[in-house]
Amino acid sequence: MKTKAAVVYEVGKPIVVEELELDERPQVGEVLIRYTHAGLCHSDVHIARGDMEARLPMVLGHEGAGIIEDVGPGVTRVEAGDHVVCSFIPNCGVCRWCASGQQAICDMGATILEGYLPGDRWPFSGPKGRYGAMCMLGTFSQYAVIHQSSVVKVDDDLPLDKAVLVGCGVPTGWGSAVNAANVRPGETVIVAGVGGIGINAVQGARHAGAKNLIAIDPLPNKREKATELGATHAVATAAEAGEIARSLTNGNGADKTIVTVGLVTQEIVTDAFDNTGKGGTVVLTGLNKFSEINVQLPGTIMTLWKKTVKGTLFGDCNPTTDIPMILGLYRSGDLKLDELITRTYTLDQVNEGYDDLLNGENVRGVLIHEH
Ligand SMILES: NC(=O)c1ccc[n+]([C@@H]2O[C@H](COP(=O)([O-])OP(=O)(O)OC[C@H]3O[C@@H](n4cnc5c(N)ncnc54)[C@H](O)[C@@H]3O)[C@@H](O)[C@H]2O)c1
Ligand SMILES: [Zn+2]
Ligand SMILES: [Zn+2]
Repeated sequence: MKTKAAVVYEVGKPIVVEELELDERPQVGEVLIRYTHAGLCHSDVHIARGDMEARLPMVLGHEGAGIIEDVGPGVTRVEAGDHVVCSFIPNCGVCRWCASGQQAICDMGATILEGYLPGDRWPFSGPKGRYGAMCMLGTFSQYAVIHQSSVVKVDDDLPLDKAVLVGCGVPTGWGSAVNAANVRPGETVIVAGVGGIGINAVQGARHAGAKNLIAIDPLPNKREKATELGATHAVATAAEAGEIARSLTNGNGADKTIVTVGLVTQEIVTDAFDNTGKGGTVVLTGLNKFSEINVQLPGTIMTLWKKTVKGTLFGDCNPTTDIPMILGLYRSGDLKLDELITRTYTLDQVNEGYDDLLNGENVRGVLIHEH
């Protein structure tokens, strides 16, 4: 079948929207999905700009929601007609990581940046041969064939135009605070970078009981949103955040600092480390090139102050349990989704959507598919 999709052929060039061929017959363990919505996350633009290297051509999009149209042999997790949210990391359920409660680092995720399915399967094809799908999803396509390990069934009455955010931005940010940083009641927390990920780190830290919650973003619209959703302070620079954190903690500094900036540099990591006090933790969620050496820190201070610096993928969430759990928090009003969406776009407007993200206009942009 034909499907309209947003493709990266060459880094640094605009994203191309065109018709591709999709092998619509799901094979063993696969499903055919009609995407209804896709979120514009910074990670896709990393690929388009070469800030994170991936195999090209690639159909972009890894935050997605939609409806299952057809299932292949052996599919047990979903059936045709089910509403699903996609997880940008698949979970097989049985590898060492899945079996020990660490689905975010499931072995099946090994091909997310090449974008093919198990068994060297490439459902998308076009003028340049085989096309990968970002995170094995390609949610910037009207239709895709993906693995059942990448979808989580959700209740039919949940609005997919909001639930879509729970495919990446919400669990990644929320879990960066709740799981990776393990924010505890009464703590002082800094969140650096208030985009689609950082705003959810703010929500997670607030939910976990942070007493002082300091958001950093150079842009006033982002600081305003952070304050609206629970930050007690919102400042433009790491220096100001450090000053506030120390003034509230007898000079110690933050208990936890979560780095959710779009492009993570050495200066940003060093500031986060310096703003974090004794016994504290720095969580790195934002990304950069694989080759970028952006962590260079004084190890002796790390040792004597007993600081931890750690990375997190998908906020250490387990998609099969955490996606429904987070949607439950949305239903009860404990977590906001509607307030995160700044603007919606059509697939043809994908470049405009990413210009808006890079210009700092969006907390999250959402693409609405037409069929
Ligand atoms: N680890 C994971 O699992 C995971 C998952 C998804 C996204 N990411 C990464 O997280 C990062 C954030 O993604 P996003 O979609 O929220 O991006 P975004 O572009 O929407 O938000 C980034 C924010 O950082 C702000 N910023 C820029 N420089 C800053 C600085 N020096 N100090 C403080 N704030 C600054 C920007 O103004 C913007 O508001 C990206 O690198 C993305 O690739 C990681
Ligand atoms: Zn993402
Ligand atoms: Zn697994």
